[in-house]
Amino acid sequence: MENGSNWWNEAIGYIIYPESFKDGNGDGIGDLRGIIEKLDYLKELGVNLLWICPIFASPMDDNGYDVSDYYHINPRFGTDEDFIVLLKEAHQRNIRIVMDLVLNHTSDEHPWFQRALHDENAPEHDYYIFKKGRYVDGKLMPPTNWSSFFTSSVWERVPGTDEFYFHTFSRKMPDVNWNNPSLRKEYFKIANYWVEKGVDGFRLDAVAHLGKDLSWSDSTLPVGKDGTVLDTSKFSNRPEVFSYLKELRASFLGKPVLLIGEVGGEIQPEQGRLLADREKGTLNLLFNFDTVWNNGNFGSIGKKDEEIKTDVLLLKHNFMRWYEACHENCDMPLYWCNHDHPRVLSQYGSLKYRNESAKMLANTLLFFYGTPFLHYGEEIGLANLLEAPLESFTMDVGTKDSLSSFRREGYSDQEILNFFRRAARMNGRSIMQWNHDENAGFSKTLPRMPLGFDYKEGFDVQDEMEDPYSILNFYQYAINLRRDPFINDLVLRAPLEIVDWNHPDVLSYLHRGNDTRLMVISNFRPYEVYFTFDYQIADILLQNYDGVILKDHVFTLRPFETLLLRLR
Ligand code: GLC
Repeated sequence: MENGSNWWNEAIGYIIYPESFKDGNGDGIGDLRGIIEKLDYLKELGVNLLWICPIFASPMDDNGYDVSDYYHINPRFGTDEDFIVLLKEAHQRNIRIVMDLVLNHTSDEHPWFQRALHDENAPEHDYYIFKKGRYVDGKLMPPTNWSSFFTSSVWERVPGTDEFYFHTFSRKMPDVNWNNPSLRKEYFKIANYWVEKGVDGFRLDAVAHLGKDLSWSDSTLPVGKDGTVLDTSKFSNRPEVFSYLKELRASFLGKPVLLIGEVGGEIQPEQGRLLADREKGTLNLLFNFDTVWNNGNFGSIGKKDEEIKTDVLLLKHNFMRWYEACHENCDMPLYWCNHDHPRVLSQYGSLKYRNESAKMLANTLLFFYGTPFLHYGEEIGLANLLEAPLESFTMDVGTKDSLSSFRREGYSDQEILNFFRRAARMNGRSIMQWNHDENAGFSKTLPRMPLGFDYKEGFDVQDEMEDPYSILNFYQYAINLRRDPFINDLVLRAPLEIVDWNHPDVLSYLHRGNDTRLMVISNFRPYEVYFTFDYQIADILLQNYDGVILKDHVFTLRPFETLLLRLR
């Protein structure tokens, strides 16, 4: 397929965490009826592709990423019928729907796992990964020294036996065995079931981890105090993933099903290019997260807030190394963050310059190369949960597990709380702020998920709609511009280059079209900086301050100033 000719090349994506978006039935939990209520809002904003985080039946150990039945909607989010209505209503508005499909693991409450656990002769036993432990000095030890992402070992002992089962994430999420062809067929059936219902694609959760090192040998990396080490080479982005996904793709029999793959875990652009190649690849868009934590915030417990600073040079490098390696052969997504990250305003922006920095982040992202995805709330400048207590963060199983290890390492609860408010993923799952009524207009009932501190101060959809200079209105205008076929074509087809690679504060890029050149200039700092400009402005298409300060070919860029320029 030629560059820019798949349907998602005209899409603006929007990520919804269903539990926190809008409560339609008044029980304090976001749901499908709530999303249906807000479809007109989303259409007006200009987004036309919704990625909805998991809505399948689940005991919610990891908020739905632990699926217990792939064929039914989780009753807390609505009924199967509600989902069909959502599909219909969205499609009527030309909005496509992508489901978040978890292929790497199930819930331990899934009937497959229950059968596997209780009957080693059942076919489902081989749907999972069971291994005998090792006796060391008479003590039963896990089969390998590999660490999982959430808890320490990837292995959990099966009670009363010397066997262990494998989990990359929480103990309640056993990994499935993609090496088993019958298991693969089960997933192809599931995916096609939803395609038949009208779903437009899938975000394939944790898809990087489908292949494991089947030699089951210990990692040779240095282990931690608990005797384990996180060695992603053992279970991330291994070559088998490619062939598994090829089979999945083939199962759609040529239908243009969008496959978005989550491929974090140290993937290199050259590997990514194989997976997403337009001709021979299997996935359409890869989320690698290389541009997410470019400020020293990841794992930054113990650091002072002042030490967290956006590394603009690294951001340019990471955006461009993927662009250079992939754009000729692959479509690409554009995003700042999702539900696994802090809010981008708190990551690369500033609460003090909220309006300016949120607009700067919008402009910088939207006109780069690829299909943009906003994370719900980005369009009103939602910030981290800066006043939330510890318990709001430990609602997330991953964060809860890290709390005990931080305490063991000797951090005080205050230090841990500061870190969570800065970096924990619950920040990206806070309640959407619709208006300044009770519970931010999300629900009449106190929400289960944490609510931000500032919805009474005008940071909500209703207030933002009423202010012509709001973040929301900027987004709407910018999205509209980006969707203009001429601009979209330029963004996707005209060569892209960085302007002034070595500027430590400004991210600037240029699309060199045949007769039009489009340039973005963004100051990532809360102070004024200078930027040399050897071009001539034809039009200013977007900006977040009045006028410009340009003298003798040098811009004085005000805090978080951003410009979208058409050059002469
Ligand atoms: C993905 C999801 C994350 C989840 C994990 C396990 O990374 O985005 O939220 O915890 O997979 O399913």
